[in-house]
Amino acid sequence: MTRILTTTFFIAALGFVALPSVASAGDVAAGNTKFQQLCVSCHGPGGKGDGPTGLALAAAGQPAPRDFTIGDFKLDTDNDGTPGTDADLKAVVQKGALVFGGSALMAPVMGLSETDLDDLIAFIRSLKG
Ligand code: HEC
Repeated sequence: MTRILTTTFFIAALGFVALPSVASAGDVAAGNTKFQQLCVSCHGPGGKGDGPTGLALAAAGQPAPRDFTIGDFKLDTDNDGTPGTDADLKAVVQKGALVFGGSALMAPVMGLSETDLDDLIAFIRSLKG
């Protein structure tokens, strides 16, 4: 009996350990390529929010794009109490920040596949230093 319980606990613990790798299934290199095409003008090549448009927004008193090297996200799109989950980041990219109480300047980005979104998120997460 004890052995069964121990085994069950061990398998459950393994499940927890395995979760983060499942959550960030995207490809960082592919995400980087997309990011440099679609997001760089505001977010900057290294995701610091220092692309030319991003800097112009900040200078104009608009919310600046998030600095992804800090990894401190703001929007909790599914109201689960935790901003910046993978689901939140995907929702912001697909639907824009405005509908979740953020800036209209983080506009919805159209035409991304699930894989593109996973890759972009993997890249964004890789920037946190
Ligand atoms: C026109 C400028 C612009 C472009 C292009 C842009 N963003 Fe943003 N992004 C912003 C701004 C501004 C914010 C901050 C929004 C706020 O504070 O409400 C932001 C915020 C974010 C956030 C943070 C959300 C949070 O909860 O804190 C993520 C993630 C994000 N952008 C991803 C992307 C990705 C991925 C792309 C490209 C596919 C992209 N953005 C393209 C301007 C932009």
